[in-house]
Amino acid sequence: NGTRRSKKGMKLVFSAVVGVCSGYLFVIFFPAFNITKINLPSSVASYIEDQSAGITTTRTLLNHEWTSANSHKDNSDSKYDEIPKIYLSTNPKGTERLPPGIVVPETDLYPQRSWGEPSEDLTSQPRYLVTFTVGIAQKANVDAAVKKFSDNFTIMLFHYDGHTTEWDEFEWSKRAIHVSVRKQTKWWYAKRFLHPDVVSRYEYIFIWDEDLGVEHFNAEAYIEIVRKHGLEISQPGLESDKKIAWRMTKRHSDQEVHKETKERPGWCTDPHLPPCAAFVEIMATVFSRNAWRCVWYMVQNDLVHGWGLDLALRRCVEPAHEKIGVVDAQWIVHQAIPSLGNQGKAVKGRAPWKGVKARCNLEWGMFRSRLADAEKAYYLEKGITPPNSTR
Ligand SMILES: *[C@@H]1O[C@H](CO)[C@@H](O)[C@H](O)[C@H]1NC(C)=O
Repeated sequence: NGTRRSKKGMKLVFSAVVGVCSGYLFVIFFPAFNITKINLPSSVASYIEDQSAGITTTRTLLNHEWTSANSHKDNSDSKYDEIPKIYLSTNPKGTERLPPGIVVPETDLYPQRSWGEPSEDLTSQPRYLVTFTVGIAQKANVDAAVKKFSDNFTIMLFHYDGHTTEWDEFEWSKRAIHVSVRKQTKWWYAKRFLHPDVVSRYEYIFIWDEDLGVEHFNAEAYIEIVRKHGLEISQPGLESDKKIAWRMTKRHSDQEVHKETKERPGWCTDPHLPPCAAFVEIMATVFSRNAWRCVWYMVQNDLVHGWGLDLALRRCVEPAHEKIGVVDAQWIVHQAIPSLGNQGKAVKGRAPWKGVKARCNLEWGMFRSRLADAEKAYYLEKGITPPNSTR
């Protein structure tokens, strides 16, 4: 059976090669037809995979292409040697030879069926995305959080501990997107799986930790507020039993949103700059589509903890002190469950979380100097004296 199969395979390949060759010959001898038809080889290649239909399908397909090509010939009165090769510098990089009508620069995360009419596949196209970076130990907490997000959200879980099927006890898990790569961090996943061209269908993108208390939070209501106040980057106000690192993120109980705060004396050089304004943390951040398009590019491939990113978010929106803010009316509790160590490794008797913490601080310094250097290099190239205010 194996040899029969491979013989059949050979035949198919041969037929495809002949098909491709004659396709090219056809182009050479009858170049007057619409130039978009030269895409023959790739369509042939995809059709020969269907072994049961095999050669017949291939031939039918080729015939179809030829016929439609020929029919174009009749109403084309331009001289065939004048037809220019396609080259469009306005196409996405690397696709300059494709007719722009066939280029699909963006994709989405909507599941489709493998049968029926493609146009009838999508019964729902959520406009918002929420991602949680999770381990099974926080199953109950994540379940509670996900339930605060309506059907208008695509739910995406990044699993850092390899447990995925266990989540299927929750109904929502079956419509969620599960990405499982062990021992990675939120920003590692975000950089790899949330490219702006992949998530462009989503108006708002929530990139959240797993240890947030959501009792006083509703996602639809949150979006209404964010939209009303023009917040491109935001987070819910924080309550915590423990000390909150930055005053900006602490919930103001008498307001719907706040965009600035008073820090301890000497902490802010400018009331419109972090940490007094233009700043939210990275534990429960919400991005507009446009803001995320910028922030994604600023996320460094190798700096996986995202430390320092919060203070730099303001570079992606203008004016930052108006478009970055905290939503007080929909607030969360930072439970600060120590999960940092989950991705760590004990080295020389040192607890895993200590190594992770050290890496966080190291990355923060690296990010800061990369940003400062990049800025300096830019001004230098332009022959401008750099402003000395780079935080
Ligand atoms: C989902 O979005 C639609 C359209 O904006 C809205 O009418 C509906 O109320 C939303 N669903 C929920 C559960 O809020």
